[in-house]
Amino acid sequence: MKKFLAAMMTAVLCMGLLTACGSAAEETAETTESVTEATNEAESAEEETAEPEAAEEAAQPEEEAAQPEAEAAVSEALADGVLNVGTNAEFPPFEYVEDNGEPDGFDIALIKAIGEKLGVEVQVENMEFNSLVASIGGKIDVAIAGMTVTDERKEMVDFSNSYYTAVQYVILPKDSEIAAAADLEGKAIGVQLGTTGDFIAEEIAGAEVAQYNKALDAVNDLVNGRLDCVIIDKNPALVFESKFADQVTAVDGAQFNFEAEEYAIAIPKGDTVLAEQINSALQEMIDDGTFDALVEEYIEGSNE
Ligand code: ARG
Repeated sequence: MKKFLAAMMTAVLCMGLLTACGSAAEETAETTESVTEATNEAESAEEETAEPEAAEEAAQPEEEAAQPEAEAAVSEALADGVLNVGTNAEFPPFEYVEDNGEPDGFDIALIKAIGEKLGVEVQVENMEFNSLVASIGGKIDVAIAGMTVTDERKEMVDFSNSYYTAVQYVILPKDSEIAAAADLEGKAIGVQLGTTGDFIAEEIAGAEVAQYNKALDAVNDLVNGRLDCVIIDKNPALVFESKFADQVTAVDGAQFNFEAEEYAIAIPKGDTVLAEQINSALQEMIDDGTFDALVEEYIEGSNE
């Protein structure tokens, strides 16, 4: 009861000041913020409180202030009728730039199909892989980029259900003697910056890790003899292997004790409405065979 009273007081204070809800109710200086700003504050408070461990003072104002919008179960991300999608089109067959300059690939086809089911326009923004997570909820609504679900990323974003299982592969020059985890120690390893391949490489004792913005540049340096290997996800590895068939081989990372990874769509933290919408669109596509058709069209045979 005491707690409730305290929370009520906080709520009343917040409403009175139309400011600083959930952050610093003691800051009494700014009393002139507009109602719009106060609403935005309330909305971000709402996002924060989706976390079970969120502070109690933040939880109460949410219920008070977010009331008017509560009924419409529309994700804020979709309110403008556009789903802004970030990707990094350097990752065939999941995403690459078509001859016409437009991003295409499995992920792009998948998110467009999801957008169609949600009744929104899909706009794809091609950006650096390493800036995708930080851009979610700002420049972009969601990211689809063959992105592996990791605990670190989960601190910043939420993920849809997983739609693909992968593993890191090791691309080697044809004459390489690297064959097991220990052989990678002290080697010059190329990776795409900020990827799980990068994180794995950085853990390898004595490895000299070269980070590239584009995986293809890493593979080119491998072919040119500047690297001992490239660590990258299975399907792109197979695509690059077929592209440089005379020079390189792609080896399953299981041979190096790398673990399986799950790809999912990254969404703004706390946007459970959007998560549910994306998950049910995904499930519909799995159930009606559209998903498998996309796998067949884009992934199977991509490395032939
Ligand atoms: N699965 C890896 C990761 O999440 C690599 C993804 C790279 N994707 C891309 N579109 N470049 O870190």
